[in-house]
Amino acid sequence: MMRRSSSSTSEPTARRRGSSALGPRGREIFSRLFGDRTRAAAPVAEAATIAIASGKGGTGKSFLSTSLAVLFHRAGKRITVVDCDFGLACDHLLLGVNPKLTLRHLLCGQGKLEEIRIETPAGPALLPGGSGIRQMANLSDTELLTFGKCLGKLAATEDLILLDMGAGISPQTILTLTSADHVVLVTQPEIAALTDAYAVCKNLTQLRSDARISVVVNRVMEPGQGRQAFDKLASVMQKFTGLQLTFLGEIAEDPAVTQRRLGQMPIVATDPDAKIAREVAAIAERLEATAGPLESRPVENGNGLEARFTEQRLFL
Ligand SMILES: Nc1ncnc2c1ncn2[C@@H]1O[C@H](COP(=O)(O)OP(=O)(O)O)[C@@H](O)[C@H]1O
Ligand SMILES: [Mg+2]
Repeated sequence: MMRRSSSSTSEPTARRRGSSALGPRGREIFSRLFGDRTRAAAPVAEAATIAIASGKGGTGKSFLSTSLAVLFHRAGKRITVVDCDFGLACDHLLLGVNPKLTLRHLLCGQGKLEEIRIETPAGPALLPGGSGIRQMANLSDTELLTFGKCLGKLAATEDLILLDMGAGISPQTILTLTSADHVVLVTQPEIAALTDAYAVCKNLTQLRSDARISVVVNRVMEPGQGRQAFDKLASVMQKFTGLQLTFLGEIAEDPAVTQRRLGQMPIVATDPDAKIAREVAAIAERLEATAGPLESRPVENGNGLEARFTEQRLFL
């Protein structure tokens, strides 16, 4: 259904036809839908976007997002984590900040991006979500447009945006996933988690047949369990959707993760030689090799993050 790869510079059919085939009324409607995209825009530098998603809840998306963010920040990247789990946001806790303003304020016009984006002691910047507020699934069209605009503005100044998603397949979650350059699916090895992970992949590929998805299997109880789980998921995906998944690696169950105290920095920062920290570092390397380079790069002709988000919301 999607007609364009995220890195492609070719234009969607509707836009390629452009304003020339439209009368004045048609031009007005088209420009309301697509904004400035009726005009050919010069290339602009924009961040790479990685969405961290899962089918089942609690698979370790926030742990992985914040850990990867710390590692990429230490590698010199300008990086912001966006806590898209609006209902159950927790990245601020994992990165050691207590924000006064969150995305909720931004979405209802009570705060600007510059006021909400917060530097964290762990290194990466954060757009905090709010706890106990409406899920992404409930955002109005106006709120979606505001969120898309915010992502576009953020992308202009960063090398990398990490979107830490809520679990599941709500329309807005899938919309955000279709707008990202690359999706990292975090699953546990159990069959129930794999089934839910498959549901995310299937929904995403129905909207975007060229989606790029890689997989991390977290909380494995013995070495190799992650690879086995991935092989099952990948073969079902290949059979039913034709899409190939990439294995980024497995992370062992480690009680040290749950035992972190409030305000403690992520393990990758405090204990980089711990087994779990090395596993995450290996995943960061494979992610950059698979989805990279994870840095600001020119995006042509209005094919940027905001435009993709804005356009794809029309398919919701
Ligand atoms: N590898 C791991 N070993 C042990 N506990 C983990 C591991 N990864 C995540 N956890 C714990 O699992 C819970 C859910 O993790 P979280 O990152 O919040 O998941 P999600 O963002 O997917 O809902 C947290 O209590 C976290 O500390
Ligand atoms: Mg989370």
